[in-house]
Amino acid sequence: MTDATHQVRRAVPAQAAHLADVLAAAFAEDPFNAWLLPDRRSRVARLQRGFKAMLSEMYLPHGECYLSGAGDAAAVWAKPGAWHVPGKVQLRMLPGLARTFGHRLPRALNGFEQLDKHHPEIPPHWFLALIGVRPESQGKGIGTDIVAPILETCDATGTPAYLETSNARNLAFYHRLGFVIRDQFELTRGPHIWTMWREPGEP
Ligand SMILES: CC(C)(COP(=O)(O)OP(=O)(O)OC[C@H]1O[C@@H](n2cnc3c(N)ncnc32)[C@H](O)[C@@H]1OP(=O)(O)O)[C@@H](O)C(=O)NCCC(=O)NCCS
Repeated sequence: MTDATHQVRRAVPAQAAHLADVLAAAFAEDPFNAWLLPDRRSRVARLQRGFKAMLSEMYLPHGECYLSGAGDAAAVWAKPGAWHVPGKVQLRMLPGLARTFGHRLPRALNGFEQLDKHHPEIPPHWFLALIGVRPESQGKGIGTDIVAPILETCDATGTPAYLETSNARNLAFYHRLGFVIRDQFELTRGPHIWTMWREPGEP
């Protein structure tokens, strides 16, 4: 690990609200979330609710979540073989997602389903479900640092990694981390999506 990655710490369930705040601020202008939540004024508050539900029910208990030392960035991973959201977890997340998306809930669920259809089952891989840096802290290397612990695990264990993005600006960032474009498509009446894959490197 570099000095900078020593600043990154694993998040605990009590930090769900903090993680959700960071991610909501980071994703305020993200094309996928803007499509689901067109009202800019309420988008951040709604995203906080949705991310909190996903973190509390799925990613904090079953995945691995990281916070930057200053608390201004978050990365949320699903472990190899565990990216599917189990049915009972989906049910527990549903009230939070309904409060987030309101009458756009069917569009959101359909969007998630389309993403899942493109998600490879094998080989087992780490899935970077969410990564966000508060807008005022972007472009300072924090996003690079916060994914380092799991990318190092990928290299040490020979495990690939996978992600989805709707923001063309992120492609260069992910390329520098070793990801290549795996697939790209349009969501039905929605944004363009790139999926990206990273083969493990030398440990
Ligand atoms: C994408 C993101 C996690 C990168 O973290 P970061 O700390 O800003 O990135 P780093 O400083 O380590 O690397 C900078 C690179 O990230 C990319 N980048 C993407 N969005 C950026 C932004 N808003 N500001 C600065 N860099 C950004 C660029 O390729 C940049 O390189 P460049 O300066 O040569 O253009 C962060 O910018 C972010 O939270 N963006 C909004 C939310 C988001 O899109 N999350 C990913 C969803 S798939």
